[in-house]
Amino acid sequence: MLEERLRETGQDHIARLLEHSAGFISSQMLRDDLAQVDLSLVMRLIKGDLLYKEPQKRSVEPAQVIPASFADTQEAAQYRDHGEGLIRQGSVAALIVAGGQGSRLGIEAPKGVVGVGPLSAKSLFCIHSQKVLALCRKYRTTIPVFIMTSRANDVQTKAYFSANDYFGLDKNEVHFFTQGMLPSVTPEGRFLISREGSLFMNPDGHGGTLTALSKNGCFDIMRDRNIEEIFYFQVDNPLVKICDPIFVGLHSLSRAEMSSKVVRKRSYDEKVGVIARINDKTRVVEYSDMSDDMRYATDETNEMLYWPGSIAIHMIRADFAENLTREGLMLPFHRAEKMIPTLDSNGEPVEEKGVKFETFIFDALPHAQRSITLEVLRDEEFAPVKNMTGEDSLETSRSMQSALYRCWLEKAGIIVNKDVSVEISPLFALEQTDLLSHLSDIPDRIETDIYLKGPDEQGQ
Ligand code: UD1
Repeated sequence: MLEERLRETGQDHIARLLEHSAGFISSQMLRDDLAQVDLSLVMRLIKGDLLYKEPQKRSVEPAQVIPASFADTQEAAQYRDHGEGLIRQGSVAALIVAGGQGSRLGIEAPKGVVGVGPLSAKSLFCIHSQKVLALCRKYRTTIPVFIMTSRANDVQTKAYFSANDYFGLDKNEVHFFTQGMLPSVTPEGRFLISREGSLFMNPDGHGGTLTALSKNGCFDIMRDRNIEEIFYFQVDNPLVKICDPIFVGLHSLSRAEMSSKVVRKRSYDEKVGVIARINDKTRVVEYSDMSDDMRYATDETNEMLYWPGSIAIHMIRADFAENLTREGLMLPFHRAEKMIPTLDSNGEPVEEKGVKFETFIFDALPHAQRSITLEVLRDEEFAPVKNMTGEDSLETSRSMQSALYRCWLEKAGIIVNKDVSVEISPLFALEQTDLLSHLSDIPDRIETDIYLKGPDEQGQ
């Protein structure tokens, strides 16, 4: 019986609330939540098992990184061709992790609905979807899109796509799946009640992507569709080059199982994970876990030694991802403290110190026998929207997008006035070279803000 099981696991206070049907508790919701919880797993987490531990470092070295300049070499062409071949034959899927809310940006909605286009104010979801649509058209193929939502935003996310006609994508090619939840606990390991009178739970982190793919039958869909490779990215970066053929090709021809893109960190303290070789394995060391020795290490020329900052873009072989969900293999859980809005034993709203548990997708990297790390240029591929103001905000992201599109135009020989904002829809050009076939649609000289739309966006 549930109450008994709760008592055995030290959650007497919850058992009591259920037995006495306290007025501020929604008994059915609480029971439904508890039914979803793997109590033995949570008890192990509370005891400190299964938690991420800093590896005993026998050796710590910089990762081998393929430099950004590689993309312009002759040698790169064969990788690009191979990547394009895989895309064309429909072997690559796109996967967006979008379990987060826009709370840090002051909106209580899925982060993907935040309007980030510099002139169009198109949402992140719209930009990502249009990139996939443009890729499908360019390569005359289909690219299934898997979108991970969370309990907090699943309904809204699906409704948003439906209301926008899937941004032109075939709705049968868009697969939503919801990540798991875990209860947050007090520092003593006691469950907390949410303000709605149910159990306080948090999403299980983007490492939960793997289990969620498996539980929701997504690996079956991938197998049926002969998907070999997954292009994984976070919803918050409108500059992501979805299914970048060079990256796809490098990863696949190197027979890598999981690969990563990095940018040069802009400062020692930038809040990004760093890719390094630890005990001969490629790993991400998350910024919050990094020692000062590592953070501030320099090379012989006094430059930052651990400069490769992860932009959370990975190629993951589909069979590798699926295997990680078999054989009881589990990613380690990271423990983070935070203030939790809860109810006290009288049902009064209070904030209490709590602990949440999450797994991170990049902890799968050391399981890969082979992995490549590709440097890309921040100005071209990484303008995330994370904060309300300052670095990585809506403002910086919009101005970086505009600066990149201005560069594309200037490279094509077009003169653009200094203060002009520029936006190019993915449906107009997916990359700079795509512009060249549209030059007749662009003025030679641009003196006011310009938004170049795709043919099917005219009038919008
Ligand atoms: C993250 C990475 C960091 C990387 C940086 C690059 C982590 C822990 N760190 O930092 O190494 O350098 O991005 O931008 O991820 N998400 C879910 N479900 C969850 C948790 C997160 O879908 O349970 C999604 C969010 O919607 C978001 C993304 O994962 O798109 C990143 O999560 P966030 O917590 O914002 O990580 P960052 O601090 O940005």
